[in-house]
Amino acid sequence: MTRTLEVDLGDRSYPIHIGPGLLHDPVLYRPHIRGRQVMIVTNETVAPLYLAPLRAALDGLEVCEVVLPDGEQYKTLEVWNRIFDALLDARFARDCTLIALGGGVVGDMAGFAAACYQRGVAFIQVPTTLLSQVDSSVGGKTGINHPAGKNMIGAFHQPLAVIADTETLDTLPQRELSAGLAEVLKYGLIRDPAFLDWLESHMAELLSRDPEALAHAIRRSCEIKAQIVAEDELESGQRALLNLGHTFGHAIETASGYGNWLHGEAVGAGMCMAADLSARMGWLAEADVERVRRLVTCAGLPTEPPPELDAERFRELMAVDKKVLDGRLRLVLLTAVGEAVISDEIDQDQLTATLSARRP
Ligand SMILES: NC(=O)c1ccc[n+]([C@@H]2O[C@H](COP(=O)([O-])OP(=O)(O)OC[C@H]3O[C@@H](n4cnc5c(N)ncnc54)[C@H](O)[C@@H]3O)[C@@H](O)[C@H]2O)c1
Ligand SMILES: [Zn+2]
Repeated sequence: MTRTLEVDLGDRSYPIHIGPGLLHDPVLYRPHIRGRQVMIVTNETVAPLYLAPLRAALDGLEVCEVVLPDGEQYKTLEVWNRIFDALLDARFARDCTLIALGGGVVGDMAGFAAACYQRGVAFIQVPTTLLSQVDSSVGGKTGINHPAGKNMIGAFHQPLAVIADTETLDTLPQRELSAGLAEVLKYGLIRDPAFLDWLESHMAELLSRDPEALAHAIRRSCEIKAQIVAEDELESGQRALLNLGHTFGHAIETASGYGNWLHGEAVGAGMCMAADLSARMGWLAEADVERVRRLVTCAGLPTEPPPELDAERFRELMAVDKKVLDGRLRLVLLTAVGEAVISDEIDQDQLTATLSARRP
């Protein structure tokens, strides 16, 4: 059942292992650990579930851990600094390895710490949410939030390996499972109509955590992400397609206070808004907008932004997002279901209409 994919980045290429029971397997970790010192970064929810088996797999090494509070609202500079306190307390050297054990929040914070500690140390991702297994653990984007904007402080730092144990999803709350499906749908929408068809017909299995269905969705998602990252590691072009729904979504997350809307929920609504704008600009058929909305709904996700977030506030927040270049807003729009483009020629009146629209 285990599959290994590769992110092809020349001498910085790395494997993504996907399958059940991988968390416990010492063999997967050893090739990537050079020194003897390993710092596991995790959080208060994940530690009681998976810290002991991971520690057992690292038996014989000098292993320490730092357990962060749980939640997007803690993806801050202050909490991030605790990782450095732990590393310095334990006198960790340049040849140490950081392991992120948890979802995207832990992965982004640990990865960014690994990018900065002594100007960069080794890093392994052990993602335990669907969202982190299909998206955030792959591709090397790391970072933290600022009160003014999501992920505004960060770095590119590729891991040496991604170890995605699909059995860890057994303990994931249903709302988090749905949030992960938002990013899975994203891959189908931007690149792979056949995968989108498959998702449409297997949504019930995915929501009931059928292991085969989940494994397939994770593998296909990682394949698409690995391919896009290999083509454009630093997002000078096509990688930006992965931001479908995210400029709208980040605005929703920032406006609602971090942690109130899950990232995947905001992306779900954001993708519906991107589809809506694409149709208003004449690029996408109305029937396809409905199809996107139906898929997002079936995945258990919202299709509308919060009612109190008006067009003016939306615009302010979207202007902070990193996708603004030279003062021009760039958005990922759909030209078909399974095909996306990056555009900075956004019709401002149509955008206002999308930002103010609330469909029944
Ligand atoms: N770096 C990237 O390329 C990238 C891509 C997408 C998202 N992100 C970031 O990822 C974050 C969202 O990640 P997320 O959705 O994984 O959220 P998360 O890390 O907050 O995890 C969701 C919740 O599930 C809990 N949890 C984790 N694993 C569990 C398990 N196996 N069983 C039970 N509970 C578990 C966590 O403690 C948390 O409460 C956001 O901050 C987003 O910005 C980054
Ligand atoms: Zn995302």
